[in-house]
Amino acid sequence: MNSLLEAFWYILPAYFANASPVVLGGGRPMDGGRTWRDGHRLFGDGKTWRGFLGGLSVGTIVGALQYLLTPAYYGGLKTAIVLAFMLSFGALLGDLTGSFIKRRANLPRGYPAVGLDQLGFLIAALALGYPIKTLTSGQIIFLLLVSPLIHWGANYIAYRLGWKSVPW
Ligand code: CTP
Ligand code: MG
Repeated sequence: MNSLLEAFWYILPAYFANASPVVLGGGRPMDGGRTWRDGHRLFGDGKTWRGFLGGLSVGTIVGALQYLLTPAYYGGLKTAIVLAFMLSFGALLGDLTGSFIKRRANLPRGYPAVGLDQLGFLIAALALGYPIKTLTSGQIIFLLLVSPLIHWGANYIAYRLGWKSVPW
C-alpha cells in the first residue's frame, strides 16, 4: 500500500469515533451539568455519554471491518481491534480535553477553536495508537496536515445535511 494511503487507513477509526457522536450523541452530558471552580461547565452539553460510548463502539467496529479488508496490514484481528479501540478512545479523550480547555477559556459550546478542534482528537489518538502499531514521522506529518481539511469538509457536509447547527 502507498505510505500516505496507509496513514489514512491507519487513522480511519479515529475519524469515525470523532464524527459519529454528531449523529449518535445526546442525552446526559458527561459532566452531569457540573461546573468547574471558575463557574463554567466542566465540558458542556456538547459532550454526552451516548456520543462518547457510541463513538468508541463505531470506531472499534470500523477497525474490525478494516481487518476483514486488509488482514495482512494488521497481522491479526486482535491487533486491529485493540488499535481501533485505542485510536477511538484517544480521539474521544482528546476531544473531551479540548472541550475542557475551551470551557476554561470561557468559550461557549460549539464555538470554534482553530487547531484544538481539528488536531486535539488526532494527537491524542496517535499517542494512544502508536504503542500498538507505529507510523513513520512522514505519515504523522501527513495526517497532521490533511486531517484539518477532512475535519472541515466532514463538518460542512454534516451541517448541510442538517446534523449540525454550525458548519465547523
Ligand atoms: N457529541 C456528543 N458527545 C461527545 C462528542 C460530541 O454527544 N463525546 C455530539 C454533540 O451533539 C456535539 C456534536 O457531537 O454538539 C459535535 O461535537 P463537537 O464539535 O466536538 O462539540 P461542540 O458542540 O462543538 O462542543 P465544544 O464546544 O465542547 O467542542
Ligand atoms: Mg465543535
